[in-house]
Amino acid sequence: MDTPDLEALFAHIARYAAQRRTADAERAHHPAATYAEQLERFRLPVQDEGVPAKQVIRELIEFAEPGLAAITSPRFHGWVIGGSNATGVAADWLTGIWGQNAGNHLATPSAAAAEEQAGVALLDLLDLPRESSVGFVTGATMANFTCLAAARGDVLRRAGWDVEADGLFGAPPITVILGEEAHSTVFAAIKYLGLGAQRVVKVDVDHNGAMIPGAFLDAIERASGPIIVVAQAGQINTGAFDPFPAIAKAVKAKNGWLHVDGAFGLWARATTTHRHLGEGLELADSWAVDGHKWLQTPYDCGYAIVRHRGAHIRAMQIAASYLPGAGDGARNPSDFVPELSRRARGFATWALIRHYGRRRIAEMITRHCACARRFAHNLGAEAGVKVLNDVVLNQVAVRFGDDEQTKAVIARIQAGGVTFVGGALWRGCWIMRISVSSETTTEADVDRSVEAMLEAWRAVRGQN
Ligand SMILES: Cc1ncc(COP(=O)(O)O)c(C=O)c1O
Repeated sequence: MDTPDLEALFAHIARYAAQRRTADAERAHHPAATYAEQLERFRLPVQDEGVPAKQVIRELIEFAEPGLAAITSPRFHGWVIGGSNATGVAADWLTGIWGQNAGNHLATPSAAAAEEQAGVALLDLLDLPRESSVGFVTGATMANFTCLAAARGDVLRRAGWDVEADGLFGAPPITVILGEEAHSTVFAAIKYLGLGAQRVVKVDVDHNGAMIPGAFLDAIERASGPIIVVAQAGQINTGAFDPFPAIAKAVKAKNGWLHVDGAFGLWARATTTHRHLGEGLELADSWAVDGHKWLQTPYDCGYAIVRHRGAHIRAMQIAASYLPGAGDGARNPSDFVPELSRRARGFATWALIRHYGRRRIAEMITRHCACARRFAHNLGAEAGVKVLNDVVLNQVAVRFGDDEQTKAVIARIQAGGVTFVGGALWRGCWIMRISVSSETTTEADVDRSVEAMLEAWRAVRGQN
């Protein structure tokens, strides 16, 4: 058997990691290789004999490099993506090195305790009810799923039905109410839970994508029986927040469950500058939020936060004679997530909250929102360019001329490699969506990106 020289192996990775991250600021945003080329590079005929560790790692770097996106760079503005802060990455390496299976506290007290304490700190940072339980999941998709599983169980229990035992066949129907522009992963969670992505009640939204209070009140007034409402903190194209105080009051009056999808927007509550956007969302019953967006943890990190611990555990707990129960008061991480064997996600979150502190998290979010306004101001001043949203947070929806021109501008920007942005179809129109969510983005980066974007627009306009 090949016994690797551990020091040489890990030192090699450490040297490479430092070089790669140091070069991030000037990294080209256009991967040099296509998917088809990468398929060839990664072709893996299974050999009888394996390859030594150092060689495998060398090959992995060599093969992957041409097809890597510059997601950790300051001018990556695609989707809503954090920059994987280096301290979090180092904690994540330790997570791999320690190899803990973070399913229960007996096997790994440190992983369970770090999650528990990181969860307490998250509730403090986001100023959510301190009695809430926190599940560490892969991202906001699974956080929405987990929270809505707890919601499903709880509203049915109140109607005298035990969904965890008896399933949905014959259960009282649940009315799910959400904004017309809820995120696609909310619909996915509803689908996974058997609630029917197409049998939801969609509420009209305003020009920025937030639910219109009157329309919501009409919808909930008409609903009867078990009710789940999904509101949003941070619409994907605009950053808009739903009107939480009015929603929360109406949901409570109907004995429903209010869930908030706040994948990135929930972090506004960690600032003084943008906290007001999320006023009232603390009245909800559950919240989904990502670590790998605005906390900058490495990927595979979201949080399912549920005010009612019992409902959370009932929906998720896996019982077996060989697993410890929660009877001794200690945390079993798997009680709060749809997984048993799992990565010890709490270490990276713990490390980043410790590393940043309250002030730096708030400063980063406030700076990102200022950068988004700078994008909007500088792009919007150009003839033929329109900023379509109210820039309340970190998202900017931009249109260049018509649909075809907007798509052509995006393609040019992506090919140019100075910055990365994606497109989306919003209200029947193609937009270029800018998200400022990578830790290291500065005003100077915004200015470089704007220059590249306007250059692309002028070239496209000149062709017509
Ligand atoms: C509002 C919203 N909800 C949910 C998600 C899904 O999050 P994840 O990709 O981390 O699962 C996103 C991702 O951008 C989002 O913006």
